[in-house]
Amino acid sequence: MFKKIPGTKDILPSETIFWQKIEAVARNVFSFYNYAEIRTPIMEDAKLFNRTLGQTSEIIKKQMFLIQNQEDTYALRPEGTAAIVRSYLENNLDKTTGFAKFYYIGPMFRLERPQKGRLRQFQHIGCEAIGAQDATLDIEIIALADQLLKSLKIQDYKIKINSLGCSKDKEKFTQALKKELNVKASQFCPDCQERLKSNTLRVLDCKKATCQEILAALGPRQEHLCADCAAHFQIVKTGLTALKINFEISPQLVRGLDYYNRTVFEITHPNLGSQDAIGAGGRYNNLVQELGGPDLGGMGFAFGVERLILAAKTFTQEISQKKLVYLITLGASAKIAGLEILARLRQAGISSDTDYLNKSLKGAMRAANDAGANFVLILGDDELKKNSIMLKDMLQSTQKEIAQSNLIEELKC
Ligand code: HAM
Repeated sequence: MFKKIPGTKDILPSETIFWQKIEAVARNVFSFYNYAEIRTPIMEDAKLFNRTLGQTSEIIKKQMFLIQNQEDTYALRPEGTAAIVRSYLENNLDKTTGFAKFYYIGPMFRLERPQKGRLRQFQHIGCEAIGAQDATLDIEIIALADQLLKSLKIQDYKIKINSLGCSKDKEKFTQALKKELNVKASQFCPDCQERLKSNTLRVLDCKKATCQEILAALGPRQEHLCADCAAHFQIVKTGLTALKINFEISPQLVRGLDYYNRTVFEITHPNLGSQDAIGAGGRYNNLVQELGGPDLGGMGFAFGVERLILAAKTFTQEISQKKLVYLITLGASAKIAGLEILARLRQAGISSDTDYLNKSLKGAMRAANDAGANFVLILGDDELKKNSIMLKDMLQSTQKEIAQSNLIEELKC
């Protein structure tokens, strides 16, 4: 028997109901903030990601799903931001629309070592606002992420923010950090020893306790932000405070992708184990230019839906199954008459189903129960003669015989 590829997931109907509701809530919240949906291809030219995510990022080093054809190498998109900026420029939106707000919902692919919360195909719900450098946009994006989580009744999450500063600040900070950490180089984990050479800032957000202990012992770092970046970050903090959004400043937060500068943020949740980030994002002021466009800033975030579902326990528990009516017919004539009743119910917008396996009354009742039916209709020869039908309320455990002509009315109230 064939098995699914490790790190991929079948989302069965018992779970798709959560996905649909989460996506519906997200679409609603995005529309309150005037973000419009964009759908870009699942495949892109691999060079797009090589150019923008950073040669030393985990994604480029080892996580890209590549498809080689005769002339080109395509990549299954590992994230949405670079592709959306590509689309923004390719469709001349910088010239026609200027500032634009997009949201997206769709699968992403990373060749990860699968574990809880870490998949090879996972779903992003994200947004990107392209064309503004203003700090109020950073505030809006973080507020939007916060409102989305509140709308999903997720509690106990932590919003961590930091500022990486501009390119010059990042470079200055990298050099200073390299000097500082090199003294203890041999004590860091093998990954961090490698990062120290090629991607120094990432040492700061290593998840290993030993590395964090060495960093803590080295004491607080020097302020690395230039005056403009410090002022920008101050506005972000003031704005979030004014909006009563709980956040904490996390100087270790550096994010794994090269395109970020200035504000970065990550949202974690305690229910998720070691992969505790439910979402993350940040500003990317050089990305549009890097892809051949004008000097425009941008900012966005993405949530991982599989992780959102793990965190949104209250929300998913409250999702009530839709109202379902299950028809049980007894005998050949009732079966045909039943088809007509089902057609009437469905035309009236009432979800309904019946037994196709010729089960006994007991078996059919069990099937109705398994299907989560709120009401069961029983139609036998007696009822047929009287043009009536038996209506069972499964929640109240009551039943009554009603005229078939009143059926829709009864079920609608
Ligand atoms: P990211 O941090 O790589 O950022 O991914 C965002 C979220 O996707 C993570 O916080 C996590 O919830 C989820 N995620 C990432 N990898 C996996 C995986 N292998 N399995 C399950 N979930 C995963 C980005 O992708 C940026 N493009 C976000 C952004 C948008 N920045 C600016 N705009």
